[in-house]
Amino acid sequence: MDKLIETEGEVTPAVLEVMNGTDNPRLREVMASLITHLHAFLREVRPTEQEYEFGLSVLNSIGQATNESNNEAVLYADILGASTLIDLINNDGMQGETMSALLGPFYRGQAPNYEYGDSIARCEMEGTPLTLEGRVIGLGGQPLANAMIDVWQASPRGMYENQDPDQDDYNLRGIFHTDAQGRYLIRTVKPAGYPVPMHTPAGDLLRAQNRSPYRPAHVHFIVSAPEHKTLITQIFSDSMDNLLSDVVFGVKPQITGELVEKGDGSFTCAYDFVLKPGNPSFPVPPISGKAQ
Ligand code: BEZ
Ligand code: FE
Repeated sequence: MDKLIETEGEVTPAVLEVMNGTDNPRLREVMASLITHLHAFLREVRPTEQEYEFGLSVLNSIGQATNESNNEAVLYADILGASTLIDLINNDGMQGETMSALLGPFYRGQAPNYEYGDSIARCEMEGTPLTLEGRVIGLGGQPLANAMIDVWQASPRGMYENQDPDQDDYNLRGIFHTDAQGRYLIRTVKPAGYPVPMHTPAGDLLRAQNRSPYRPAHVHFIVSAPEHKTLITQIFSDSMDNLLSDVVFGVKPQITGELVEKGDGSFTCAYDFVLKPGNPSFPVPPISGKAQ
């Protein structure tokens, strides 16, 4: 800076100028854009000093609400639509691969390994039996043998095991591998839709906005095979009203599944996952444990 700042209009160029020396070109680009948009936002909204103080306290509260069983930054980004926007920026489905969906805050990683046809219920579960079955295939329809499927879901009461003291550790979470024909078969129970946590800062915002906190019923999957892009997705099955009002904007038409009654009170959902060529990579789990 060769001159002291005297007016509102002089702040942004001064900040951009001192960041010019950033060695990492991507960091330089990202920070220049962030400052430009952040300052433009502040000039447009013109927060009072009290509003600015409140905004910073919300940022702090997001960090303070984060622990091994709750990831508030992920939850907050999800309810703002940022996670679904990032998902669609990076995954357009244009080659015919299965559409992806946001990871969400409840992926733990390190789930137990299961064999073809095993159940992921690790404790007595009241609920409707559900079989998830299909194949993992490439863009040309070729079966992908030994593909990894990491699956997790909420219980029939709409709670993930990490939120619920009545469920065993890692209940309704598991890792499967496809057989030589690329097939998988997972036994579970029908998940229910659920409200996202409302006792943390994201809940304060949802209440202030008079929004429904509900997600439609769904099952999460991470599907991975060598030399293919890892697919992070969810399969939804719920009423159209619930699909349309997902609090995190995660539902896409291509990833709704049909639950078919088998005649004995149980259901099955058939879904083939299509992977496109690429490099496998895995998300860092947003949480690692169960609430104490
Ligand atoms: C989930 O599907 O697990 C989820 C996604 C976003 C916010 C909360 C939960
Ligand atoms: Fe979920």
